Amino acid sequence: MTQDKRAGRANANSAESSGKKTEETANRKEDSVPVEAKPKRRAMVMETALRDAHQSLIATRMRTSDMAPVLELMDEVGYYSLEMWGGATFDSCMRFLGEDPWERLRLIRRHVKKTKLQMLLRGQNLVGYRHYADDAVREFVKRTVGNGMDIIRIFDALNDLRNMEIAADQVKKEGAHLQMCIAYTLSPVHTLDAFAKMALDMTHMGADSIAIKDMAGLLNPVDCVRLVKAIRAKTDVPIQLHSHYTSGMASMAYYAGLEAGASVVDTAISPFSMGTSQPPTESLVAALAGGELDTGIRLENLVPVAEYFKKIREKYSNLIADIGGVDINILRYQIPGGMYSNLVSQLKEQNALDRLEDVMQEIPVVRRAMGYPPLVTPTSQIVGTQATLNVLTGQRWKVIPKEVKQYFMGYYGTAPAPLDPEVQKLAIGNEEPITCRPGEKIAPEMEEARRAAAVWTLQPEDALSWLMFPQVAKDFLPQKYARVTKRDVGFDEMVDNAAYPV
Ligand code: CO
Repeated sequence: MTQDKRAGRANANSAESSGKKTEETANRKEDSVPVEAKPKRRAMVMETALRDAHQSLIATRMRTSDMAPVLELMDEVGYYSLEMWGGATFDSCMRFLGEDPWERLRLIRRHVKKTKLQMLLRGQNLVGYRHYADDAVREFVKRTVGNGMDIIRIFDALNDLRNMEIAADQVKKEGAHLQMCIAYTLSPVHTLDAFAKMALDMTHMGADSIAIKDMAGLLNPVDCVRLVKAIRAKTDVPIQLHSHYTSGMASMAYYAGLEAGASVVDTAISPFSMGTSQPPTESLVAALAGGELDTGIRLENLVPVAEYFKKIREKYSNLIADIGGVDINILRYQIPGGMYSNLVSQLKEQNALDRLEDVMQEIPVVRRAMGYPPLVTPTSQIVGTQATLNVLTGQRWKVIPKEVKQYFMGYYGTAPAPLDPEVQKLAIGNEEPITCRPGEKIAPEMEEARRAAAVWTLQPEDALSWLMFPQVAKDFLPQKYARVTKRDVGFDEMVDNAAYPV
């Protein structure tokens, strides 16, 4: 940005420009234009090519060997951070690629020296599919930071802060950057006040930044401005915006959100952008160039990165799930695109596609009874399945799956709004729901995991891989052990002592 432009803007807001910076930030008024020190107003970019973008577009199948050659180029770009781990990558590495996720982390860390590394962690679920014991959560965070992670973004499907508490505490203990994340959703109880209070509570838990995670692309620019301002009015921690391009609104929401005071946005290099992925990095950089929010990234530094990923996209083209532009069903029904397409295929299987509209009408009914959970994994599946059952059986709550019972028992955490007591009674009968933090109900798990994985353990991290994905690790760890020990003579002794099946 040029000095002239900055001066011009400051003069137009002379009341603020003459004020003290700290006071200004704390007392910012709704309609004021923030005038801050240059580094604060520079928009920053998190590149998602190495995590969310390939998770969204090619089923998380990008191999580490396809990432390695471009890492040093990416390190030169000037990104705020690279998202490169967590989410589904951990599972996918072992299950589909025969790769050790921990090795990926270490390799990327070796090549990326200047840029921060960032990951997505599902609170007490870590990167798996159930709640784990507190000792496992702490061990996972410890090993993750120990292997080179800088920023850990933590969310919970219900926005239940208790499910983030142990992980958050450990991130702080390890000295990493704690980014606490609000799962954005639309419902009568998800008001601006509720989100702002959540952000404030997160700040009290030690959050170094707050992410607004719009997994469905539901956040429009108008609401984005309101949300950023509402959070800004409560806390000064930096805000990072995360959205998906699915409904076509994400770039607009980012621009509006940045103008309103957000600091960082999540984008993907163009060959891995748009559709169900993030908005394109190059477009955002170009759009902001020369203005107050200039990212400082030079477009020509992005060109070789884009060229590289163009080839990678071609390589994985058979896996690309292209939504063909914009999915307007998100705008129509205000549910995630993935949830909509799941419901369509479920109904097709049952020869009941003609009931789609009824299921769509049933979703808000189910959600209300369940206290308006955000629609994100796993709650989107739970709500979708129950709504389908309610319609297809011809009687509401006649069939209630195990997951819904568990939900009403409190094992997922506390819902954003009170549960419908009558439906809860139908779901769990006379059983007493738990009211404590769900993690408290799980006995320590690490010792047993270490014992179970001991034979194939090459590194302390292997016990965690085993704990989270026992079925997958049962195949993966012995294979890796065989591969590594045969290749590396340094492990000869361990081979002799180990009794692994070949
Ligand atoms: Co995402």
